[in-house]
Amino acid sequence: MDDFEANERILELRDTINFHLYRYHVLDAPVISDAEYDELYRELLALEERYPDLVTAASPTQRAGAEPLPGFEKVTHPAPILSLANAFDVAGLRAWRTRIGRLLPDPDMHLDYVAEPKLDGLTVVLTYRDGVFVQGATRGNGEVGEDVTQNLRTLFSLPKRLPVDPNCDLPAPPYLVVRGEIFFPLDKFEALNHARADAGLPLYMNPRNTAAGSLRQLDSTQTAQRPLRLYCYDVIIWDGIEIPVTQWERLQMLRDYGFPVSPDSVYCTNLDAVAAEYEKWIEKRNQINYEVDGVVVKINDRPLADGLGFVGKDPRGAVAMKFPAQEKTTKLLDVQVNVGRTGILAPAAVLEPVEIGGVIVRNATLHNYDEIERKDIRIGDTVIVKRAGDVIPYIVGPVVDLRDGSELVVQRPSHCPVCGEPASYISGEVAVYCENPACPEQLVRRVEYFVGRSAMDIDGFGSKTAALLVAEGLIKDIGDIYSLRRDDLLALEGHQEKKVDNLLAGLEASKLQPADRVLTALGIRFVGNVMSETLLNAVGGIDQLAAAGQETLEQIEGIGPQTAVSVIEWFARPRNREIIEKLRVADLNFDIEFTESEGGTAAALNGLTFVITGTLPSLSRQEAKALIEANGGKVTGSVSKHTDYLLAGEKAGSKLGKAQSLGVEVLDEAGLHKLIYNG
Ligand code: IVH
Repeated sequence: MDDFEANERILELRDTINFHLYRYHVLDAPVISDAEYDELYRELLALEERYPDLVTAASPTQRAGAEPLPGFEKVTHPAPILSLANAFDVAGLRAWRTRIGRLLPDPDMHLDYVAEPKLDGLTVVLTYRDGVFVQGATRGNGEVGEDVTQNLRTLFSLPKRLPVDPNCDLPAPPYLVVRGEIFFPLDKFEALNHARADAGLPLYMNPRNTAAGSLRQLDSTQTAQRPLRLYCYDVIIWDGIEIPVTQWERLQMLRDYGFPVSPDSVYCTNLDAVAAEYEKWIEKRNQINYEVDGVVVKINDRPLADGLGFVGKDPRGAVAMKFPAQEKTTKLLDVQVNVGRTGILAPAAVLEPVEIGGVIVRNATLHNYDEIERKDIRIGDTVIVKRAGDVIPYIVGPVVDLRDGSELVVQRPSHCPVCGEPASYISGEVAVYCENPACPEQLVRRVEYFVGRSAMDIDGFGSKTAALLVAEGLIKDIGDIYSLRRDDLLALEGHQEKKVDNLLAGLEASKLQPADRVLTALGIRFVGNVMSETLLNAVGGIDQLAAAGQETLEQIEGIGPQTAVSVIEWFARPRNREIIEKLRVADLNFDIEFTESEGGTAAALNGLTFVITGTLPSLSRQEAKALIEANGGKVTGSVSKHTDYLLAGEKAGSKLGKAQSLGVEVLDEAGLHKLIYNG
């Protein structure tokens, strides 16, 4: 391949990859498998390594982020980035319509509208030249914003080249400036705060500020790690293309180009339809995965809307209908201490029940004791409670004027409320810990986490079951989960046959979970879903991870010293080693699945897929895996109809049964050697 051909291929790969990123992240409808995607990506990476001069910032390989910036450059927007006037109810909406009526040729002329969710995020202004994303800026003061191009490039859903779909026959626009909103999905926000709580780090206040903070990072690798999303809703400037005159069609045009556009926007034939839409939104605002603080109502006829001009910075042709505040005041009755999985003693507010947005709220998070102190929240205070989406409500602050002097300052715990061990304060961390490894409450939390949705996802295993099993002494560590016997379970309160059978079936099914789930389930500090995948992709399996030194771990991209130390300390504890052995006997997957063989053409095991189970006479599982892969075979974690051989040693577990039931040939170690050396 000469330089020219390489360049052509690189350009082609970038477009193809961007297209698949769009199918995956924007449309949620991928058209190729992850493995095929990986192959394209690797090809591009390899070419760019060979031709470093051809690497550009716009390449999808560069989305991990560029060099940190000393500060943000200022960007003057090509047109003022306007704001919106507010209305607070349907009467306010009608008043807006009456006001603009006075400026229309006929005050009663028929208008149609588009009602869009008002995302509570932050505005960005995206510039494309000849269809290529060249600049992204924050709103700033509406005239001058900050250049956050590098950071925005790290968003999967942001189109890097227009149109994103090569089959789309829209021409690449010579000049296009689009406005959109960056936001932090609520589930991701909650997960982030969970991880931070586990790590004893201060929590983030709300999704909006976190989105803003993530976008305004000088180091774009930081932004790349945040699951920011984008929805676009306006074309600010266009040149060299014709664009539709209605807002509704403009949204569609944005979609056609490949921009992410909220699927929740609605076309309304008249103002009554808008009002109905607003009422509907008040009901459903808590069911969606991003924070919406109102509905933006826009006159559909854009030339007419724009012709109405603006008042200050607010265009007359649109109005923001804000939702009623999801905040109420109530009494803080008590502050309880909850014991977390990692031993964190976390304060939790017990409230006088109060209805907020249709839900009775009895509890609220207080994050940590520093926060209680900072906000000066006292027991007996009247407090403002805020509910946002489906996240746990939190306390905004006390109403100091309503104090009568009987309020009590919240004390930091001196002991674990469950096991009674003295609480410890780790320097540099805001969290307070119970460091007793035998604390029963911690164990209950660890079991809950192990069986929970982000880890082994075991059906039919709830919090009550976890608490009972720990209380009855049937689970002494998470390694005991797979040795629960039917009789023991049947003896538990409220556990009839059907329930027990469901639970056992759930346990059995969970054994097929991939190794990264198993690693997550161990509950090692700082090692959640994403980290587990990163670690295992780098080292291959849980045993290799246990054997890895600090230096090896720190060399892995995305792993810092804190995580490395946490992993090493976890595996160094004999109690944890025992857990690992119990899980091995239970036949959980310890190794990641490889999707491709890397062997040469003449290798003996080319095209063959193996699963390894049990203890082999001379090879460790790792050595067996290495041997198979060295000979062109691949090793996966679970038996399926695509498995060619099950390599089984002593104490083979459920995989053996599965292989037999699927008619998969079973080999022992000697059989493997024969296959390799005698063909
Ligand atoms: S239109 C001139 N549409 O709300 C057009 N704004 O309170 C003005 N926002 O600064 C903006 N979702 O950051 C528009 N679908 C949407 C929106 C939206 C969120 C934000 C935007 C704006 C603020 C105005």
